[in-house]
Amino acid sequence: MSTPAPARRVLSGMRPTGRLHLGNYHGALRNWVELQYQYECFFFVADWHMLTTGYEDTSRLQEHVREVLIDWLAAGLNPGVATLFIQSHVPEHAELHLLLSMITPLGWLERVPSYKDQQEQLKEKDLATYGFLGYPLLQSADILIYRAAYVPVGEDQVAHVELTREAARRFNHIYGREPDFEAKAEKAVKELGGRNTTAYRQLRRKFQEAGDTESLKRAQALVQSNTRITLADRERLLGYLEGTGVTILPEPQVLLTATPKVPGLDGRKMSKSYGNTIGLREEPDAVVSKLRAMQTDPARVRRTDPGDPDKCPVFDLHKVYSDEATRRWASEGCRSAGIGCLDCKKPLIEKIVEEINGMRRRAQEFEDNPDLVRNIVAEGAEKAREAARQTLDEVRRAMHLRID
Ligand code: TRP
Ligand code: SF4
Repeated sequence: MSTPAPARRVLSGMRPTGRLHLGNYHGALRNWVELQYQYECFFFVADWHMLTTGYEDTSRLQEHVREVLIDWLAAGLNPGVATLFIQSHVPEHAELHLLLSMITPLGWLERVPSYKDQQEQLKEKDLATYGFLGYPLLQSADILIYRAAYVPVGEDQVAHVELTREAARRFNHIYGREPDFEAKAEKAVKELGGRNTTAYRQLRRKFQEAGDTESLKRAQALVQSNTRITLADRERLLGYLEGTGVTILPEPQVLLTATPKVPGLDGRKMSKSYGNTIGLREEPDAVVSKLRAMQTDPARVRRTDPGDPDKCPVFDLHKVYSDEATRRWASEGCRSAGIGCLDCKKPLIEKIVEEINGMRRRAQEFEDNPDLVRNIVAEGAEKAREAARQTLDEVRRAMHLRID
């Protein structure tokens, strides 16, 4: 009987910027909520990352961490299936960051596009710091410490995952050669057990002697689906197949998801720095007045002027919230001046207020019981540390450092 393959790991993080908005929800969080039921997920609040740009005023950091966590729970992240934690509660990230920093050429970090971009954009801050330069490598450590297979992030973070892959490759290249690799791999082959051991040997021989890639694939599947062996043995068996060493830190992949464009109230992308947001748990009355005042097609001055939905941010919101029939109604009514902008916004206002009310309802019990959130992240940190320690043990062993 074949056992199902263990769920692959997903990891992502978010900076504690304070209360989240609908752009954060539709751009990332909603996707996380779905992923938690398909993968083994680790999601963390990146408080150390916040320090890399916001080191001067940390007075509201705790408050912001808390708000983000409650927003996550309100949005439907489920601590029963996903591991939710705070980065600084898992100091293992810092140790791996330090170790990786030893083998990372300066040029790799100086070349990360966000390094120069952010320094230009955030001119009021002095970002010529060691921490800011190293922050993409801290992100690499965040990912590699869990040996995550997938990292769901937006376009702006792809370069960081690419750096992570390079860092992993370099680490494996330098430290991935165990002196007793063959012996350990052979022992792991026996661990597979019975028929699987025989099958692995046959498939490996077919691949290595005849270059049969079909056999390679079958052997890889056999190893991946085996739940009796340890993570380390799995990596050995995979490396042994192709004649490479052990992969101590596997290379993660970006999980790019098609996220809708969420316009802010002024038509630009919804973003905290533009002050054009609708909060995930904002007061419904405030939401209604904000939406009523939201920017529309600027060419549509009078009610009798026809408009162009393609030039209207409100129509972009319809793309996020409305079904096809409503979108067609809005688009046709706009072009023919059959409806006014307030008519057009009405179904949208209803949908958004309903969504926000759901968030507010779910947030309430966490607002009322601060201990609930504290317990969730305490448990999350415990689980995360367990996983992180396993990787760090392997890393230390490979580098001939102390072993716990
Ligand atoms: N740098 C990310 C951001 O600014 C947050 C982050 C930190 C992250 N560590 C991560 C995202 C690890 C994915 C994986 O949005
Ligand atoms: Fe925008 Fe709707 Fe007004 Fe057209 S009718 S300009 S789509 S708000």
